[in-house]
Amino acid sequence: MATVAHEILSHIYSRIVSPYVKELRKYTAFSNNVYGELLPKFVSRIFKELELRSDQVFVDLGSGVGNCVLQAALETGCESYGCEMMENAAELADKQAVEFQERLKLWGIKAGLVKLITGDFLKSEEIGEVLQKTDLLLVNNYAFDAELNGNLVHMFLDLRDGTKIVSLKSFVPPGHTISSHNVESPINLLQVEEREFFSGSVSWTDAPGKYYVSTIDRGRIKKFLSSQE
Ligand SMILES: C[S@@+](CC[C@H](N)C(=O)[O-])C[C@H]1O[C@@H](n2cnc3c(N)ncnc32)[C@H](O)[C@@H]1O
Repeated sequence: MATVAHEILSHIYSRIVSPYVKELRKYTAFSNNVYGELLPKFVSRIFKELELRSDQVFVDLGSGVGNCVLQAALETGCESYGCEMMENAAELADKQAVEFQERLKLWGIKAGLVKLITGDFLKSEEIGEVLQKTDLLLVNNYAFDAELNGNLVHMFLDLRDGTKIVSLKSFVPPGHTISSHNVESPINLLQVEEREFFSGSVSWTDAPGKYYVSTIDRGRIKKFLSSQE
């Protein structure tokens, strides 16, 4: 299914996004709105490795032109949500979603529900609600600043145990361990694993790199607290 999905998504992208690709570069340098994409092959690998299923919920926080959202719905049949605040990217995402539905009809293919929200994910009530049922959360936070990454970790308090978060930067500093000084910190919810992506996985470089899979695990804090009794 992945190759057919890639082909359909690539046709939609060429028609809707490619003519306006210059617009996507009109972000403020070094801001949280720096634009870049995870490429379909890498996204498929994430879905496969993390076993995203049709009865699950995928969310992309900072969904850009909606690529990963459409790919999740098409490739796995899951419910798929995205939230993007940059107007030009969000408009292209909506246009891609319309073209996506038309192509599905044409090909007689069914996909999961797609919902694209325009706005700030930190302020969206709908995102707050969706997070409570999310199974796989993608945050391409490669260019996010420390404040935004910190705010995101507070949002993770809404996630259920077992939810997986894929990010390009770790939310947990290297060498972090739970201690009596930091036991209140929400980063203690996260069990983080570093993985490597291959060359050709992301739009901003050909080089290989690292990504992080964090799992929500409240048991870590409980275990620490009981070790202190
Ligand atoms: C690097 S792009 C990722 C696009 C897509 N998720 C991907 O990985 O292919 C990150 C996006 O996050 C968006 N973003 C940053 N802060 C945001 C916020 N608070 N609310 C919504 N979107 C935000 C940026 O505008 C940018 O389009």
